[in-house]
Amino acid sequence: MSYGLLKGKKGIIFGALDSNSIAWKVAEQCHAEGAEFILTNAPVALRMGQLNALAEKTNSDVIPADATSMEDLGKLFDAAAEKFGKIDFILHSIGMSVNVRKGKEYIDLNYDWLAKGWDISAVSFHRIMKTAWDRDIMNRGGSILALTYIAAQRTFPNYNDMADNKAYLESIARSFGYFWGKEKGVRVNTISQSPTPTTAGQGVQGFDGFITYAEKVSPLGNATAQDCANYCVAMFSDLTKMVTMQNLFHDGGYSNTGVSAEVIQKFEPTADNE
Ligand SMILES: NC(=O)c1ccc[n+]([C@@H]2O[C@H](COP(=O)([O-])OP(=O)(O)OC[C@H]3O[C@@H](n4cnc5c(N)ncnc54)[C@H](O)[C@@H]3O)[C@@H](O)[C@H]2O)c1
Repeated sequence: MSYGLLKGKKGIIFGALDSNSIAWKVAEQCHAEGAEFILTNAPVALRMGQLNALAEKTNSDVIPADATSMEDLGKLFDAAAEKFGKIDFILHSIGMSVNVRKGKEYIDLNYDWLAKGWDISAVSFHRIMKTAWDRDIMNRGGSILALTYIAAQRTFPNYNDMADNKAYLESIARSFGYFWGKEKGVRVNTISQSPTPTTAGQGVQGFDGFITYAEKVSPLGNATAQDCANYCVAMFSDLTKMVTMQNLFHDGGYSNTGVSAEVIQKFEPTADNE
C-alpha cells in the first residue's frame, strides 16, 4: 500500500546489505511512497554485489562509503548535494560488533574490537550528521533516523558490547538532535526495533530462541522489517514533524510487557514442564 507520503522528498539510505536488511525494505517502501534517494554501504558490502539490484528497482544511485571515514562521507554528501541540492531524510541502519562476530563474551571484551564496533555502530551516526551539518544539506522539516535495540535500556546478555553501542547511539540522537532542532528545524530520532532475522540480527548468539521468546511476550507479536519500513516512512513524512530526540519503541508492545500468559504457562508446574 502506498499513499505518496514522500512525494518530492530526497534522501540517503545507509545499510542495505541484502533483501533481509531492514534498510532494504525501507528503500523499497520509500520508493513506493515517491521518494528519491542514494543508497550507500561500506565498500566491502558493495562487493557482495546485491545492492545494484535494489538500485535498479528503486531507480537509485549507489555510492560506497565506510561510515567511519570522514573522507568517504564527505564524498557521499557532496554527490548527494550535486544530485539533489538539499535532502529531506537520512536513515542510519548500520551495526557491527567485532566481539560478537568473533564470539568474545562481554566480560572478556577485546578493547580494540570494542572501539571499532563502537565507531561503526554509534559514532558513525555523529559522523554522518556532522558531514550533513557542515554542508547545510538538510531541508527544514527534514528527518534523520537511526535503528536501535532495547538492549540499550535493559540487559540482554548475548547482545554483548552492542548494548553499550546502542546506548551511545541513542544518546547521540538526543544530543545532536537538540542542535538540529534549534538551528535547522530538523528531527532526529531512533527507532527501537523488534528482533528481526537479518545478517546482523542472526549474528547474535541464541537469536532463534530469543526471537520466538520476544514473539510470545509482545501482545502484537514481533514487528517485521516491513513493519519497520512503514514506520520509517511515517517518520520521514510530514505527519510527524514535531517528534524529535525520541527513542521510539517499535516492538509490538514488548518494551512495556512484564510477562505474557504464554510465558507464564511455560513455567507452570505441570507434568509437561517438569
Ligand atoms: N536485526 C535485528 O534484530 C535488529 C533489531 C533492532 C535493531 N537493529 C538494527 O538495525 C540496523 C540494521 O541492521 P539489520 O538487522 O538490517 O542487519 P544488516 O546486517 O542487514 O545491516 C547492517 C548493515 O551495516 C552495514 N555496515 C557495517 N559496517 C559498516 C561500515 N563501516 N560502514 C557502513 N555500513 C556498515 C552492513 O554492511 C549492513 O548493511 C542496525 O543498526 C541493527 O543494529 C537490528
